[in-house]
Amino acid sequence: MRKPIIGGNWKMNRGIPSDTVNMLKKLIPSVKKVNSVDIVIAPPFTALGSAVEITKKSNIKIGAQNMYFEETGAYTGEISSLFLKKLGVEYVILGHSERRDIFKESDELINKKLKKALSMKLNPIVCIGEHLEERDAGKTKEVIHNQIHNTFKNLTKEDLIKTVIAYEPIWAIGTGKTATPEQTEEIHLFIREILELKYDSETANAIRIQYGGSIKPTNAKELFEKENIDGGLVGGASLQADSLFEIIKAADATTK
Ligand code: 13P
Repeated sequence: MRKPIIGGNWKMNRGIPSDTVNMLKKLIPSVKKVNSVDIVIAPPFTALGSAVEITKKSNIKIGAQNMYFEETGAYTGEISSLFLKKLGVEYVILGHSERRDIFKESDELINKKLKKALSMKLNPIVCIGEHLEERDAGKTKEVIHNQIHNTFKNLTKEDLIKTVIAYEPIWAIGTGKTATPEQTEEIHLFIREILELKYDSETANAIRIQYGGSIKPTNAKELFEKENIDGGLVGGASLQADSLFEIIKAADATTK
């Protein structure tokens, strides 16, 4: 049984520490009794310290939205895994499509970050997903295959199992267009097939695969009920405690 994981990717929102703390103060009591779902909130870097502090005695874990693969040095503007670790951050999102598209991050760079995160015992959430043109051209599986092959290059199966994959079709992010549960399930199964060929069936079945893209309280249940969808990475709807709690409850319900 894979434990569902719900991540709140706040993107460049709620970066003022008091703003983060206010939201988390509402979320903490409502999720108190949820123990069958991993809950991760990823605020901007500026609010990570406050987020770690306020969630210390709760069942919410804090994640960063990015990191660099070197520990220290002349890398202006970058944040290292060492700093995150020392701050008490436990997860890190890597290779989000906004990082890939806007900041030109390559699979090769994400692979280096992934290996570094794992060596620092940060739990990585690695995003993959196709553009609309690629889906329309019937290239979704090819894109996913290449991203997995390159992003997870030379990863041991022990490390792979510690990684969470977030399948986020880019055309569904922030657009209100959700991939249907069937479309998502098909790709999640395909991801497991690739991993079975690359590793083995035990590894392929153990890894958690989240869906991301316009998840809302109204569509969460039907997505999470699918066998191979192990929760979600939520953007817009994770900014308010009420809507995020509804989504967490939908994931929790699938474990009963
Ligand atoms: P939305 O939920 O706002 O579509 O964002 C999804 C996402 O990119 C999560 O990482």
